[in-house]
Amino acid sequence: MPNLLKSFNPATGDCVWQGAESDEAACAVAVASARAAASAWARRPVDERVAIARAYAGVLDQRREALARLIADETGKLVWEARTEVTAMIGKVDIAIRAQAERAGTSDTAQPFGRAVLRHHPHGVMAVLGPYNFPGHLPNGHIVPALIAGNAVIFKPSELTPGTGAAMIDAWHAAGVPSDVLQVLQGGRDTGAALLGQDIDGLLFTGSASAGRHFRRAFVDRPGVILALELGGNNPLVVWDDVTDPAILANLVVHSAFVTTGQRCSCARRLIVPHGSAGDALVAALVDLAARLPIGAGEDAAFMGPLVSVTAARASRAALRDLIAAGARVLLDRSAIEGRPEAFFGPVVLESTGVAVPDGEIFAPVLQIVRVADFPAAIAAANATAFGLSAGLLATDQALWDRFVSEIRAGVVNWNRPTTGAASAAPFGGLGESGNHRPSAYYAADYCAYPVASFESAELKPLPIMGLD
Ligand code: NAD
Ligand code: SIN
Repeated sequence: MPNLLKSFNPATGDCVWQGAESDEAACAVAVASARAAASAWARRPVDERVAIARAYAGVLDQRREALARLIADETGKLVWEARTEVTAMIGKVDIAIRAQAERAGTSDTAQPFGRAVLRHHPHGVMAVLGPYNFPGHLPNGHIVPALIAGNAVIFKPSELTPGTGAAMIDAWHAAGVPSDVLQVLQGGRDTGAALLGQDIDGLLFTGSASAGRHFRRAFVDRPGVILALELGGNNPLVVWDDVTDPAILANLVVHSAFVTTGQRCSCARRLIVPHGSAGDALVAALVDLAARLPIGAGEDAAFMGPLVSVTAARASRAALRDLIAAGARVLLDRSAIEGRPEAFFGPVVLESTGVAVPDGEIFAPVLQIVRVADFPAAIAAANATAFGLSAGLLATDQALWDRFVSEIRAGVVNWNRPTTGAASAAPFGGLGESGNHRPSAYYAADYCAYPVASFESAELKPLPIMGLD
């Protein structure tokens, strides 16, 4: 008997989805049937695959409200926020079609001997492993371009959000993608490992840096498998402004650090501010706003919901205790919410200046303040991380921004905007522990196909040989 996998609403504890876990034998069958189906899918004209992708967007549009509620139930996201996720999934299709044509299309240039042609070929069978924080949008960001490029795809959703994964694949099948070309396997890390042990051509992964590290090692002897690793961050937000109302600055900090209950890879984890009165005023405004942020569930008009699970909340509270034991000082602690289930975890603000804290990601709304003496020290503090995903500057001085954007090492660097809210129409990926230099979003087309450059002549003609002709 296969194991039963269940997902739960973290706000209510209700079971949302249940189904069989895929074992090693199921993974082997899935990859073999995907391999058998892949070449016929790749041979179909790209316009046919594009038409199916557009039909998929149409099915999502028809099912938009049901899918948003499922995402909200499985992740604990507020329904308003889950609706924005479904909108992003639908919007991804046109963007991916454009990206495929621009970055992975065909070009043909006349030459004296004939033509120089550039084509792109799909890799074959791609495994997609998804995270729970955007259980639709992020795997969608791999699956849409991979299918348009002509790959077969096997998707294993997060074990915390299997229902969303199943619903997404069902929408593709309703749109006409053959069932062997796109398949879903359900389960946790064991299922993921069993899938990756099969004869796959690519791993498109969004998840934690520790899993990314594991995959880099696991695939070191399989150079034929393309890895696209979209990982976490320890993202800095620098505020260097003493003319703007501190309440406005605090608003942008809150949108950077606490949106989606801190469960975005792009969330600011470190707030770097000047010593002295400007820094003090901002920190006071931030603590005031964070203390008032509405926390709720489901349809509530609230800013934040619970974390994805009780396990995630316990792990985040343990990490918080470790920071405090290391010397971080608590400025605000809403990590437990009276009258709410254990998965609820509100904003936490810590003063960590001068404290040796680990360079890691706590995937929860925990923000650490670091005070520095001058702007060069702020840049040095921002770059003092092995990660490099997102970064931001809040400052009205253009010269500071010019310096910041040229010196910060990160894949997304924003000015007077939150660190969060990545655009599908731009590349999204990070340096160091945040990825492997294969950014996703608009540049996902690059890792879904490989380029083939050809010199072509319909005639066989000899070439001159120096010294003979
Ligand atoms: P996770 O790494 O725990 O799991 C992601 C997926 O990989 C899941 O499907 C899981 O079952 C599978 N998995 C994990 N370890 C595995 C292993 N050893 N073998 C096989 N499969 C394995 O990540 P998560 O907790 O679901 O998501 C949160 C993390 O994702 C955070 O670190 C966040 O920063 C990161 N994230 C990154 C991006 C990005 O684009 N850079 C976006 C969103 C989330
Ligand atoms: C994420 O990938 O976790 C979110 C990126 C964003 O901020 O939109």
